Amino acid sequence: MITPSSGYSPALLAGRVALITGGGTGICRGIALAMAELGCNIAISSRSLEHLQQTALDITRLGPRSLTVSADVRRPEEVAAVVTRTVETFGRLDILVNGAAGNFLCLAEQLSPNGFGSVVDIDLKGTFNVSRAAYPHLARQGGVILNISATLQLLGTRAQVHASAAKAGIDALTRGLAVEWGPARIRVNGLAPGPVAGTEGVRRLTTDATQAAITDACPLGRLASVDDIARAAVFLCSDLGSFITGVTLVVDGGLWLNSARALGA
Ligand code: COA
Repeated sequence: MITPSSGYSPALLAGRVALITGGGTGICRGIALAMAELGCNIAISSRSLEHLQQTALDITRLGPRSLTVSADVRRPEEVAAVVTRTVETFGRLDILVNGAAGNFLCLAEQLSPNGFGSVVDIDLKGTFNVSRAAYPHLARQGGVILNISATLQLLGTRAQVHASAAKAGIDALTRGLAVEWGPARIRVNGLAPGPVAGTEGVRRLTTDATQAAITDACPLGRLASVDDIARAAVFLCSDLGSFITGVTLVVDGGLWLNSARALGA
């Protein structure tokens, strides 16, 4: 069986410390567990501590240490406290995964300014807030930031202007920070999953019928698994990706390439 860490050296991330926002559930839980399997100590944060407990237990069962901290990425003072506690607990910070996100389906004409702003605040401003707070610690010995993006913004996606605007902003942030922080030996990349089976995102944004349509449209013939995403995240966040920065890697089985089909049989 291929696991998220299959093919990687078991000590690939030994001695490293990662902070993963939104790390209690979904793809960020998968990334946390994959990194823990490879020896990384992990801090996970979310607005709700309850969302983090099981993942923290699962990390420690794999061997590394874990830390849970509740924080809203929209609040810079809470973000600063998460970063400080991570560094106080583990002595360093090597990897930041910006995974905290919020989303729902809503057509633009029905979306309130606060609804649009809430998603931009969590996804885009939250990514900036945590990256900025982490910068001095990552710069100490060099490090990696991974921003979780999406494919919604690559085309026009109905009922997703808020998330598309936020994720497009994140992609811009990825490129800009890569240029500014490369000299500090900080690589900044993005990872853009398509729909991932079993996640809150798929539960909120799709139905059984749309999942079947996605499977049909996907050149590789299925939804992504959490493990597909976690394996790609490990690559980008480890020394295996040592000369990659400013890139947003799409991991969607080719789905978005096949999504605009006004022509054809
Ligand atoms: N459709 C339209 N508008 C919505 C909405 C929906 N399904 N859900 C929330 N909103 C609007 C609210 O009406 C509110 O705007 P208003 O004050 O003009 O009425 C605004 O968004 C903020 O909602 P609120 O519930 O107060 O925000 P929150 O900060 O508690 O939650 C969200 C943020 C809205 C992003 C919420 O969906 C969330 O917490 N999501 C986290 C988990 C998640 O989305 N996971 C999936 C990731 S893909």
